[in-house]
Amino acid sequence: MKAVLCRRWGGPESLSVEDAADPAPGPGEVAIRVEGCGVNFADTLIIQGKYQVRPDLPFTPGMEVAGAIAAVGEGVERYRVGDAVIGMVGTGGFAERVVCPERHLLSRPAAVDGVTAASMPVAYGTAHIALADRAGLKPGESLLVHGASGGVGLAAVEVGKAMGALVIATASSDDKLAIAREHGADHAIDYTKGEFRDTVKELTGGGADVIFDPVGGDVFDQSLRCISWGGRLLVIGFAAGRIPQAPANIVLVKNISVVGVHWGTYRDKGRTVLRDSFTRIFGWLEEGKLRPLVSRTYILDETARAIGDLAERRARGKIVVTP
Ligand SMILES: NC(=O)c1ccc[n+]([C@@H]2O[C@H](COP(=O)([O-])OP(=O)(O)OC[C@H]3O[C@@H](n4cnc5c(N)ncnc54)[C@H](OP(=O)(O)O)[C@@H]3O)[C@@H](O)[C@H]2O)c1
Repeated sequence: MKAVLCRRWGGPESLSVEDAADPAPGPGEVAIRVEGCGVNFADTLIIQGKYQVRPDLPFTPGMEVAGAIAAVGEGVERYRVGDAVIGMVGTGGFAERVVCPERHLLSRPAAVDGVTAASMPVAYGTAHIALADRAGLKPGESLLVHGASGGVGLAAVEVGKAMGALVIATASSDDKLAIAREHGADHAIDYTKGEFRDTVKELTGGGADVIFDPVGGDVFDQSLRCISWGGRLLVIGFAAGRIPQAPANIVLVKNISVVGVHWGTYRDKGRTVLRDSFTRIFGWLEEGKLRPLVSRTYILDETARAIGDLAERRARGKIVVTP
C-alpha cells in the first residue's frame, strides 16, 4: 500500500509518500481500507514534534478516517469485514490502510459518504463534548465561537445552534464570516479589524455565557474581557501560536470557569460520554441540523499541500485526503 511517512520533524514539505507493507490487525484490532482521512491542525504540529503526543519516527500522521473494514483481528466481536466504519485512529490515517483498535471504531451512518464521515469525528466530537459535557451550554445562552470557519470552529457554530444558543462567530475575512453565517451564526465579527469585546458585550447585553476558543493568544486575552458573570471559557487550542495565561484574579472577580478540553482522551477515559456524543451528533445530522463542510479534497500524494493549507490559514471547514 501507499502511506505518508514522517521520517524527521519538520513542516509538510518534509513528508514523503512511500510504499509500505499492508498493516495486519492484532488481537482486538481491525484493518480499515481508507476512503478519507480528515486533516486537522494537530497534523501541522505532530509532524514538527510539537503536539501533546510525540510518536516514534518514522510514523504516518492522520488522526481520523472513514472506510470499510478489510480484515478483522482475533477477538473482535462487533465488526465484520466490509462494515462501513469511522476510525478515531490518532495516527496512521494518511495511508491506503490503517489498523484501529475496535474500541476506537464507530459504525458509519448509512446516509454518510466516506469523505464526509472522515471529516466529522474530531471537529464535531470536540465541539459537542466541549459545549455539552464541559460547558453545559443551555438553550437561550450566548455562545462566542472563535476561528468559526475552521474545522472545530464551524462545527461549534452548528452544534451551538442545534443546542439552542445565540451564536456569535469570529473569523479573519469576509468569506470566512459568510461561511459561519451560512452554517447558522447569528452574528459575525472580523476579529482582525480592531477589538471584538465591545461588540460582543453589546450583542449579549454584558458578555458571552460560553466562549469556544481554538485560537488562543490575544483572542483568549480579549475573551476574558467579554465573558459574562458565571461564564465558561473553553480552552480548545492555540492556532495563533501563543499559549495564553488566565490571571486568577479575573477568574475570581468575574466568577468564571476556564475549562480545558482534550477530546482525544475521551476515546479511553470517557468512552460512554463519547459514544453518547456521537449518537447525538449523528441524530442531528439525520435531522439536517448539521451540514458538514468539506471544502476541498486532496489525493494521498498531495497530503503535504493539504496540511500546508491549515498551517497557512487557507482551509475552510474541513479538508479531507482521499487515498
Ligand atoms: N482540545 C481538543 O480536543 C482539540 C480538538 C481539535 C482541535 N483542537 C485545536 O483547535 C485548533 C483548531 O483546529 P482545527 O483542526 O479546527 O484547525 P483549522 O481548521 O485550521 O482552524 C483553525 C482556525 O484558527 C484560526 N487561526 C487564527 N490564527 C491562526 C494561525 N496563526 N494559523 C492558523 N489558523 C489560525 C483560523 O481562522 P481565521 O483565519 O478566521 O482566524 C482557522 O480557521 C487547533 O489549535 C487544534 O489543535 C483541539
